[in-house]
Amino acid sequence: MGSETARETEVPKAKIPEIRYTKLFINGEFIDAVSGKTFETRDPRTGEVLAMVSEGDKDDIDRAVKAARHAFDHGQWPRLSGAERGRILRRLADLIDEHSDELGALETRDGGKLFLVSKLGEIPTCANTLRYFAGAADKIHGHTLKMAREMMGYTLKEPVGVVGAILPWNFPSIMFFSKASPALAAGCTVVVKPAEQTPLAALFYAHLAKQAGIPDGVLNVVTGYGPTAGAALASHMEVDKISFTGSTEVGRLIMEAAAKSNLKPVSLELGGKSPIIVFDDADVNVAAELATMAAFFNKGEICVAASRTLVQEGIYDDFVKACVEKAKAWKIGDPFDPTVNHGPQVDKVQFDRVLGFIQQGKKEGATLLTGGKPCEETGLHIEPTIFANVQDDMTIATEEIFGPVMSLFKFKTVEEAIERANKTRYGLAAGIVTKDLNTVNRVSRSLRAGAVWINCYFAFDNDAPFGGYKMSGFGKDSGLDSLHDYLNTKTVVTPLFDSPWL
Ligand code: NAI
Ligand code: MG
Repeated sequence: MGSETARETEVPKAKIPEIRYTKLFINGEFIDAVSGKTFETRDPRTGEVLAMVSEGDKDDIDRAVKAARHAFDHGQWPRLSGAERGRILRRLADLIDEHSDELGALETRDGGKLFLVSKLGEIPTCANTLRYFAGAADKIHGHTLKMAREMMGYTLKEPVGVVGAILPWNFPSIMFFSKASPALAAGCTVVVKPAEQTPLAALFYAHLAKQAGIPDGVLNVVTGYGPTAGAALASHMEVDKISFTGSTEVGRLIMEAAAKSNLKPVSLELGGKSPIIVFDDADVNVAAELATMAAFFNKGEICVAASRTLVQEGIYDDFVKACVEKAKAWKIGDPFDPTVNHGPQVDKVQFDRVLGFIQQGKKEGATLLTGGKPCEETGLHIEPTIFANVQDDMTIATEEIFGPVMSLFKFKTVEEAIERANKTRYGLAAGIVTKDLNTVNRVSRSLRAGAVWINCYFAFDNDAPFGGYKMSGFGKDSGLDSLHDYLNTKTVVTPLFDSPWL
């Protein structure tokens, strides 16, 4: 596949790494699960079993939480100066950069992600996320209060304690660091439960964290399944906060578990049904490029996928034609091939789920313009798919598909676009494509979504807070707002002069 491009000659061929870390990482050691059980993780390119990984359960979560509790209550990490924590986190960032080839390849083999995007995009982003929060670690401080009485008051910002991070499989590395970096910078200790589909990168990061000098017990990784290991973490009495990214159903379970145990705060990032709104004055070709990328990137396995494309009637026909052409030219194949646009869906469950939604779209009367099928030569690849004549209440217009499926809607006025864009229980992200500043201002302020990207999409940045409105969840995964999700505010007050109470 794809041997002739310039890009391929610029980028060294990925070394297929040997899988080195497959056991739980607890208190600075790689160890077997208490039960001795393991589970398989597969390469979605071939279906081959990549590795047998330790299957952590309630007992293992308990061991990891005890280690994290001890490291928080008695260890040095929360008591180090922020500058020193920052120094260690920067060392971890450098180690990540040094291993970007191996980490990128690991992501491709475990989750079917494009190797180049992982190696040149996601892995360096993880290192930079660490550096961003490392830089914030020595700038954590409270306020001096203007008390009404003759009292002196100030606030202290203190780490919340033991953090449980439950991760999804679509961005195993980015999700790991979007939660671990602010938590560690704040002085928290962490137990990470990676997704069972993609457990390998997190174990590699545990190894690098130890090398970087993160003390034992501060960062623990327990691989295993959601209803066992994940549920045990969410309901643990000694966990002070849960940060979760995944499905709405499981987000609800996590909130319930927190409510029924120690009322720990949770932050939830639960995906979406994000609109991209294309207005008549847009450049058709540029808008179609943006909209197809926004719908199909990472095989549509991204929480902010623009799965509802709203197009104004004046350019609708031309825009649809351009999108279909781009989808047809989209190259599907081995994600190690640098000319390929997308690889296989993460596993058979997701593959079947996406095809199920496509079937449902056809059944409910949407018009399939292109795609809609698995690719012939391989197992888990799905063609980029475009539906037209989608009604707002169809399943494909309301449910998160998490696959390469674009649904097209035609609108007339700005008011209609706003109303229909907001007609969803989700509110994660939205895109606007127009040159008109008044439209930009009006629409961006009217959309109920946590991120609005104007004439761009996927505009993530370490300094840009990211998180949802409505049923897309709450809490932030990026920016200084997210650091504050891992801090408690303590108010300290004392009389200024002789105390009336003494
Ligand atoms: P999921 O929500 O089941 O999995 C996410 C994480 O939660 C995994 O680590 C899993 O082990 C854990 N988990 C599962 N059950 C749990 C429980 N009872 N207690 C604690 N943790 C638990 O998502 P799944 O089944 O992998 O994907 C289903 C759909 O969810 C996708 O098709 C997609 O629509 C959505 N999703 C959204 C994501 C996002 O980025 N917001 C990421 C992954 C999935
Ligand atoms: Mg699940």
